[in-house]
Amino acid sequence: MPSALHTKLCDVLGVRHPIVQTAMGWIATPELVAASGNAGAFGCLATANLRPDEVDAAIRKTRELTDAPFGVNFLMEAPGADEIVDAIVRHRVKAASYSRSPNPEFIKRFKEAGILCMPTCGAARHAQKAVQLGADLVIAQGGEGGGHTGSVPTSILIPQVVDAVDVPVVAAGGFKDGRGLVAALAFGAAGIAMGTRFLLTAESPLPAATAQRYFQATVNDIPITTQVDGMPQRVVMNELVQRLESSGSVRLLFRALRSGLAYRKLSGASIPELLRSALAMRRSEKLTRSQTLMAANAPILVKTAMVDGDPAHGVLPSGMVSGVIDDRPRCAELIERIMAEAEQTLAALAR
Ligand SMILES: Cc1cc2nc3c(=O)[nH]c(=O)nc-3n(C[C@H](O)[C@H](O)[C@H](O)COP(=O)(O)O)c2cc1C
Repeated sequence: MPSALHTKLCDVLGVRHPIVQTAMGWIATPELVAASGNAGAFGCLATANLRPDEVDAAIRKTRELTDAPFGVNFLMEAPGADEIVDAIVRHRVKAASYSRSPNPEFIKRFKEAGILCMPTCGAARHAQKAVQLGADLVIAQGGEGGGHTGSVPTSILIPQVVDAVDVPVVAAGGFKDGRGLVAALAFGAAGIAMGTRFLLTAESPLPAATAQRYFQATVNDIPITTQVDGMPQRVVMNELVQRLESSGSVRLLFRALRSGLAYRKLSGASIPELLRSALAMRRSEKLTRSQTLMAANAPILVKTAMVDGDPAHGVLPSGMVSGVIDDRPRCAELIERIMAEAEQTLAALAR
């Protein structure tokens, strides 16, 4: 009898297990993506931390490390997004992952090249819209998920999206183990997608000092804030976020300007390019002027924690699930553990 754990997602993505490792800026490097892929999951490469001209090399590097299929995540309204689309198409990457502001031109290019379109959505109506625009599968992320996130809890969102669309749905937001995988399948999803759980693996480049903050956090220490970049983002509460939450708008603006300039250096974007993408974001997300500037600030603040290892002065995007994670296994061990627990859970239910 075919296993209930070999789902449509395995066939569509060409992987052994119905598990997606989602993109995380600075963290979902070629090494992490390859480790996930080699363990039988589907990894997504992050590009939020790369200049557009670096994406080609990152895809090549991932291919050197694994034969497994993988995806590339990018922000369609970011400066140089068309260069990233070129690289994805040129390398015939398996899937393109995106969330806000889908660009119909880019989606058309992916469809023509046979690249799967895999958006992340936080509401059923967004998932419907994404499918109308060409999504081949949808990651539905509940509000407990890490990074930018919606407000509908996973347990409510997943069945709602499953009922609303006719493509495979991958459940995200709060997953870490085999019981969660079986629960997601019971809701009608074809698998699970996890960010925070993969952030806390041995192959993730997360510095030890920052990892310690994730391990110390309880589920009550991981709120949603809009003070980092104007959009609701779930993070581990720390000294920086406490300060941002109590800062007046002038100080926020000053801080945003300062880090916006640092980001310009890092990303190689010109000022007109940055302004264009900030304005596009402002339109699509209905941000105020100061929020628009804050958005330019965010990548530098994430880098401070995720690369420089300074968890007090940087932003620590996180799902609530880090409040119940206290180990850092290798990806292969993690995936084996999840699949074994899912098998046991199914057997126990059958009994
Ligand atoms: C540290 C971190 C960085 C993230 N960076 C990105 C990113 O660059 N692009 C993106 O689309 N999502 C990003 N996310 C969201 C994740 O890809 C994923 O959707 C989310 O973590 C799933 O919820 P979970 O953390 O409960 O598993 C990030 C999440 C975390 C925790």
